[in-house]
Order: sequence, then structure tokens, then C-alpha cells
Amino acid sequence: MTTFVRVPVEGAALTVQVRGDGAPILFVHGFPLDQSMWTHQLAGFSAWRRIAPDLRGAGDSEAPTGEYSMARYADDLVMVLDAVGAERAVCCGLSMGGYILFELMRRHPERVRALVLCDTKAEADTPQGKQGREELAALAEREGVAPVAERLLPKLLGLTTRSRDLGLVETVRAMVLRSPVTGVAGALRAMRDRPDSTALLGEIRVPTLVVAGAEDELTPPAVMQPMARRIREARYVEVPSAGHLTPLERPDAVNEVLRDFLASL
Ligand code: MLT
Repeated sequence: MTTFVRVPVEGAALTVQVRGDGAPILFVHGFPLDQSMWTHQLAGFSAWRRIAPDLRGAGDSEAPTGEYSMARYADDLVMVLDAVGAERAVCCGLSMGGYILFELMRRHPERVRALVLCDTKAEADTPQGKQGREELAALAEREGVAPVAERLLPKLLGLTTRSRDLGLVETVRAMVLRSPVTGVAGALRAMRDRPDSTALLGEIRVPTLVVAGAEDELTPPAVMQPMARRIREARYVEVPSAGHLTPLERPDAVNEVLRDFLASL
């Protein structure tokens, strides 16, 4: 059964898709996207309770003007888990979703049963990267989300998808364009200010799956493989013909590795 629940969090209300029964698995989307990026994972895994929030400032959740930070997003996830009665969950995050899960591990490790890190990285932004975030946030506030979408789209999807799956390119474009300006600017500044999580990697003690898109230009395999090596119990899988949005670009391949991983828990 699929339901959408509204979960009150500090200063906002989130929309959360909840599907099925069983042990909980939490899906945390990337930027500037929403929970629909997990559509193929939410459709499978019927033995699991799949929980997929729209983060504050994304999708159908409210976009308050207040604070956006990795800590705030992580605390929101705890309120989502509380609201659906999930004490511990397998936590699966893509890119910014991964940054948030690192923060969740720092603040609330007892809520994480296992980790799935897709197309993400542990390092903080460089000074140049921070400046780019601020420029993009200011652009969104000045001209809306459309110019931000045009800058980001080529980096979100791999070359194979961009040349062969124009339908998916349009789906992702529409997803980005739905994002509220406040949430986009808030997320950019939250990512700009996020702490470095490299030191955390050696402290992770839960089973971890690391999934990299072979054509990912934002968090390439050259960054993800060394990250996986620093996590004690990590399994690393590189998915061919996928860019930064591996679960959407190669859903069958991702679902297969995810299925194997979940079966091993
Ligand atoms: C994401 O997909 O969440 C973003 O690309 C992350 C980032 O810009 O660092």
C-alpha cells in the first residue's frame, strides 16, 4: 500500500511517501530533486517498508525561509522516522542525500542500521566550490530555478543517458523546475557550509554499500572508490553507462546490487 503522510518538523511540514510493510528503508534524495527520483526503488523491494521524504524546500514539502543545514535536514529525517514508527532504518542517500546521512551518522547513529551511499562524497566544498554555490543561490533568487536547471542538467545525467534517453532528460528537467527557489537557495548554502566527513568514514561500523555511476562527473568513481576503501565494512559497485543519478539511469542494475546487499544484512 502506498500512502503520503505529512510530517511536521521544526518550522515546516514534509511530505513523505510510505510504501509497504516490513523492515524500514529510508531513501534520501539529492539536489535539486525530490523523492520521485527513487521511483524504481520504491516500486520494488515489496518485503521492505520504503520511506521516501521530500526534504524541506523540495517536492511537495514546505519551503520555509529559515535555516537550511545538514544538521537540520538530518534532524528532519529523525522526525520522519519517529512519525512512521521506525526505530532504525537502512538509510540510502544520493549525493546531497549522502551528505545528510553523514550528518545523521554523527548526530543519531543509533537510527542507522546500514548505509547505502550513491554518487556522493565525504569531502567538504573547496573555497572555489563554496563561491560557486553562492553564485548559483544568488542566480536562483534573482532569476528563478530555470537558469539553475540549465547549468546543472548536463552534470546530473551521464553521456549515455543524455544521448539515448531524452525522455529521462525531460523527466529530470521537470523535477528540477518544480523545486521552489527558497529550497534551492537554502540547499546550496547548506551544502556550501557542510562539514568535511572524511574523518567519519573510518568510524562507520554498519554494513555499507557504495554505488558509483561510471560516467558520473560530479562524484566520479575516482572519488567514490577511495571513499569506500576508508569504510571498514563497505562494498563498492560501479555501474556502467550511468552518470550522477545512477538509481534513475540504471534502475535494474542498482536494484540488483541493492537486493544483494539487503539480503546480506
Ligand atoms: C546532488 O546531486 O545532490 C548534488 O549534485 C550535490 C552537490 O552539488 O554537491
